[in-house]
Amino acid sequence: MKFTRRTLLAASAAAALLPKSVFGQAGLTLTATEGSQQIAPAGYPETKIWGYDGGVPGPTIRVKQGGRVVRDFVNDLPQGSSVHWHGIRIKNDMDGVVGLTQDAVDPGQSMVYDFTVPDAGTYWYHPHNRTWEQMARGLYGALIIEESAPPDVDRDIVFLIDDWRLTQEAAIDESFGQMMDWSHSGRIGNWVTINGKAPDDHPVKLNERIRLRLVNTSNSRIFELGFDGFEGMVVALDGQPLDVPVAMGRISLAPAQRMDLILDVTAEQGKYGSLVMQDRNEAFQLAKFPVEGAARNEKMAAPAPLPANPVPALGDLKSARRFDLLMEGGAMSQMREAMVDGEVQDTRSLAADGQFWALNGVSGMPKTPLLVAERGETIIVRIINQTVFGHAMHLHGFHFRSLGADGSQGPLRDTVLVERDETVEIAFVADNPGDWLFHCHMLEHTAAGMLTWIKVN
Ligand code: C2O
Ligand code: CU
Repeated sequence: MKFTRRTLLAASAAAALLPKSVFGQAGLTLTATEGSQQIAPAGYPETKIWGYDGGVPGPTIRVKQGGRVVRDFVNDLPQGSSVHWHGIRIKNDMDGVVGLTQDAVDPGQSMVYDFTVPDAGTYWYHPHNRTWEQMARGLYGALIIEESAPPDVDRDIVFLIDDWRLTQEAAIDESFGQMMDWSHSGRIGNWVTINGKAPDDHPVKLNERIRLRLVNTSNSRIFELGFDGFEGMVVALDGQPLDVPVAMGRISLAPAQRMDLILDVTAEQGKYGSLVMQDRNEAFQLAKFPVEGAARNEKMAAPAPLPANPVPALGDLKSARRFDLLMEGGAMSQMREAMVDGEVQDTRSLAADGQFWALNGVSGMPKTPLLVAERGETIIVRIINQTVFGHAMHLHGFHFRSLGADGSQGPLRDTVLVERDETVEIAFVADNPGDWLFHCHMLEHTAAGMLTWIKVN
């Protein structure tokens, strides 16, 4: 390595952090800090971001299933932060939720996260304090848990897809907390990146097999995606393998959701495949895959299912306890009032406090949990959406299955999109003790009241 001024600076910065990082197994740090990066297309200036280790995305953390993740999280931001390990069935005190499982890590402070990872699959990490601002500024990264026998692929790639709201100078638009966003669909941006970069070329080979892990890291955008020039199978959702892989069609990925694909390149040599995003009536190419050479003469055989993770099977659903979660509020709603901190407020005074949404009549974090479960019990929650917006409901600490009217069980997920006027029933085994957040992952909706929690004894 050549010693430039930059590497020297980096080295001395690392040295300055050493006293904080000597504890913990490997002494690895993860630092939330300011940075600058080319987010917008060439010709625009770099964008000042907040990122883990100064970049967006933050470093990809890869560990074998059953292994341990240890990171000394250092907060070099001007505001309190934390790290939430999204989708990991984790020990409660490592879940990173400020206000529920920990206090914020103040500027200049650090905290060791240390946990084991029971499930293989595609996960990610992000802050859980002022999340609507911190994620919009670029704080997130991939957490990949490898199977002990990974599927046979030529390449394993992660695409963290994000939606940015940039100014004409390519700065992050500081319109955080805008009422219009909080009461409608959230902060929808005007620029989309993959792994923090403008649409780019990704050379591939004919008949090459790629495992592509898609993660929606946007604040609130539901990505509608499609591939050309590939044949694909969906093998996992939100980290959890499908029992039977299904052929890839048009993809809808709500905030925080993941999808693992096994793609075979079928576009001819000299041509290219593409990843296209549909935005209302317009289509945008997010990635171009020029085909250069061939990996093999024929396409590989259809992929086998990934090995299942040790998630407990649902117990008897007839005797399971049931709870309702009524979603109300937002623009164009019938909601008249909601409780805040134990007091009834009308929608006008709610709005004055930036609160627009309610779960079971409560806006903001309720003092008492939605439900208290005994460890190991199967719980059913019926989510009733009485708003005119879709909501990406995320339960911390568990994966759940949605239940069909005919009694069928959907795939394991940690985040489910509940469309406007829709009712979705989910069921899970409450095997993980602690206090777990349950909220809409459209981050402006969380900020504006759409969150609750459950308790498992
Ligand atoms: Cu991705 Cu409450 O988190
Ligand atoms: Cu929502």
